[in-house]
Amino acid sequence: MCGIVGYTGPKEAYPIVITGLKRLEYRGYDSTGVALLNDGLKVYKKKGRVADLEEAIIGKDLHAHTGIGHTRWATHGEPSDTNAHPHTSASGKLAMIHNGIIENYAQLKKELTKKGYVFTSETDTEVLLNFIEDIKENNQCDLEEAVRVALKRVTGAYVILLLDAEHPDTIIAARKGSPLVIGVGKGEHFLGSDASPMLEYTKEVVYVNDYELAIVRPNELILKNLGNEKITPFVTKLDMELAEIEKGGYDHFMLKEIFEQPSTIHDCLRGRLDATAGTITMSGIESNMEHFKNANRIIMVACGTSWHAALLAEYIIEELCRIPVEVEYASEFRYRNPIINKGDIIVAISQSGETADTLVAIERAKEHGAIIFGIVNVVGSSIARISNGGAYTHAGPEIGVASTKAFTGQLAVLTMMALKIAKEKGTISEERYSNLLFELEAVPEKVSAILKNAEALKTIALKYQGASDALFLGRGYNFPIALEGALKLKEISYIHAEGYPAAEMKHGPIALVDDKLPVVFIATKDSYHEKIVSNIQEIKARKGKVIAIITEGDDIIPGMADDVFFVPVADEIIAPMLSTIPMQLLSYYTGIAKGVDVDKPRNLAKSVTVE
Ligand code: AGP
Repeated sequence: MCGIVGYTGPKEAYPIVITGLKRLEYRGYDSTGVALLNDGLKVYKKKGRVADLEEAIIGKDLHAHTGIGHTRWATHGEPSDTNAHPHTSASGKLAMIHNGIIENYAQLKKELTKKGYVFTSETDTEVLLNFIEDIKENNQCDLEEAVRVALKRVTGAYVILLLDAEHPDTIIAARKGSPLVIGVGKGEHFLGSDASPMLEYTKEVVYVNDYELAIVRPNELILKNLGNEKITPFVTKLDMELAEIEKGGYDHFMLKEIFEQPSTIHDCLRGRLDATAGTITMSGIESNMEHFKNANRIIMVACGTSWHAALLAEYIIEELCRIPVEVEYASEFRYRNPIINKGDIIVAISQSGETADTLVAIERAKEHGAIIFGIVNVVGSSIARISNGGAYTHAGPEIGVASTKAFTGQLAVLTMMALKIAKEKGTISEERYSNLLFELEAVPEKVSAILKNAEALKTIALKYQGASDALFLGRGYNFPIALEGALKLKEISYIHAEGYPAAEMKHGPIALVDDKLPVVFIATKDSYHEKIVSNIQEIKARKGKVIAIITEGDDIIPGMADDVFFVPVADEIIAPMLSTIPMQLLSYYTGIAKGVDVDKPRNLAKSVTVE
């Protein structure tokens, strides 16, 4: 996701654009820039937050009545001054900002390079911009027509805002798959990824639809489709306040990010998983495949929720790839004198890519000559940069302190990684490989179905919010999810919670069970189901309160549990991605019931960049 802002009218454009960018930083914040149009184009951009840009350009010529701005969340090309938007065309007359992914940019880049175009950045945006200019100059048509022709050739998602030095009061905008709102003022117009940049100026907005193109001037808004047919703009009145808009209408970033998971998991799989073709395309793995195939051992280092992803990956990789996996808390690994042999691979998992313990653990491993594979969410982060290869989770900025959508993105990447290696090693049958690809492809839809029943978890949360302790139990692939559920409840509601392998209860923890203790079972239908039913009975026999996350169609556990929540049927390797969702919602609703600031729980930071 990136944030885009535009203004054209009688006011100074820069203050409106830079303030709007600050409100959109929740959409991305690794680099930022503005283009101002007054007596030619002035473009200022740099790596870093909006405030860094603002400081860097104090004293520059910022006068203009038309301007656009962009705050980036890198997907193509790591955060840098040259990869920051706006980009300018070869002629220097056009400037453009873009939110989205141009999937066929490589082909377009090849064609333009053959024509002699030289690119300064690694972005798909610069390619699209020069593709538009090339059409404008070769077809001798106006910019609007060139945009229309170009966008008919483009595949992927985009919102673009374009300035032309030869038309100082005009902004051309178009969208497909990414949001664009146009604010209608008196003799002025505002543009944004959402309405937050324009709220104090106007509440009259036009939501631009896919395949529509807008020509925006101070006193004119023309809307057309790509067939050049005019569309009457439909003006609606906003009834949201600023705070709500940044959270997309959700009460908290955490809830917004939980509900984003169908699309973030889809984004993580997109361009990589093709179940019909039976392929998984991940260049970071392909370029390290020999290391993975011949690895004696994979050592996973991570912290917190990312460590739970690593633990689940151990179960999946050992099952599918038959490679020994060790999972290490990065904070422990970095201080003990670990044995790292030649041929070991270190897989580092981190949402932020900046966790100090994980970073140092990697550096220790590198000293022993290990290959580092990084699975991170923040493009260009420290862990991404020091790894020999890696894969991004593409979950977009995760603002809530509790990791939710990044976690399911990690699970999706790790599952694809295991499948790809197992296929290459021949340790998985064609049938199981194909089944799991289709199962993985179906996850976003199943997560959507689960989210439709979110209110059921609110009821359960309200029922148990007074508990002082809780247990989370699971077996096999569900054990890491039990640990994750316990962590979520701890960090979001401050209720003490522990996760355990369900069979471990009889080795001590069952002494805790009484008629006040809620025990959450992750008990989806799998090869352990019979065993976990017995574990539930052990708890019930001691009057414990059982909350069970079970598979649709399970007609055994509902008769013994106090509360149940159903998730769709899925292969036992895939099911943990589904049973994670009720864990997230249970902690969220419990935290809300207890009046916790769930986006910023006490004592916690989003990224632990210190020891
Ligand atoms: C997860 O909900 C926590 N906020 C925390 O455990 C987090 O997972 C941990 O600090 C690791 O962070 P990272 O993934 O950015 O490395």
